[in-house]
Amino acid sequence: MDDAATNAPVNEAPYRLLDEVDLGEGVAIYSFTNLYGCRIGAGTRIGTFVEVQRGASIGAACKIQSHSFICDGVTIEDEVFVGHGVMFVNDKRPRATAGGELQTEEDWELLETVVERGATVGSGATILGGVRIGAGAMVGAGAVVSRDVEPGATVAGVPARPLRGSAPALQ
Ligand SMILES: CC(C)(COP(=O)(O)OP(=O)(O)OC[C@H]1O[C@@H](n2cnc3c(N)ncnc32)[C@H](O)[C@@H]1OP(=O)(O)O)[C@@H](O)C(=O)NCCC(=O)NCCS
Repeated sequence: MDDAATNAPVNEAPYRLLDEVDLGEGVAIYSFTNLYGCRIGAGTRIGTFVEVQRGASIGAACKIQSHSFICDGVTIEDEVFVGHGVMFVNDKRPRATAGGELQTEEDWELLETVVERGATVGSGATILGGVRIGAGAMVGAGAVVSRDVEPGATVAGVPARPLRGSAPALQ
């Protein structure tokens, strides 16, 4: 099950799939997870029912809470907290088919997203592709982030905007 990992997870847990995962030391991965072709930094914890796709990168000392989806094109730096059920998006205008056939990777543009060091993404947030969430920023539960978030800012709502009194403001 863990054959392709560079390090084995630090914990035991049934029903987890790890395929070509570059694992740092001391990573804990819980049950019902699906990780493939991605990188997970040292000491990070991956909760139940999390999927991390090929091409995604998660730094060291992160907490990824249950039911979150981290797709190709997402880079999460060190010490980031991702709450429960956070959805990252990498295709702005998805379609099932192109010319009547199911779309392939050639048919759409991958949008890259970065979550900088020490930021937090609250539960149930959706992070649209192509944004940068600045270092130490706080994204409220249920937010839809459609623009960059300044370092240290607290944003919430749909679309996410700075909370009153939080500074600095979104650009
Ligand atoms: C965004 C957040 C950090 C704000 O906390 P705070 O700075 O203490 O703000 P307050 O609770 O004082 O709320 C300030 C205002 O923002 C609103 N607000 C707070 N969180 C909000 C959110 N997630 N979405 C929309 N509005 C929100 C409040 O209703 C309040 O509005 P009002 O002034 O009109 O009454 C926090 O509410 C939050 O969502 N944290 C994420 C928690 C989480 O997901 N944890 C995951 C693991 S348990």
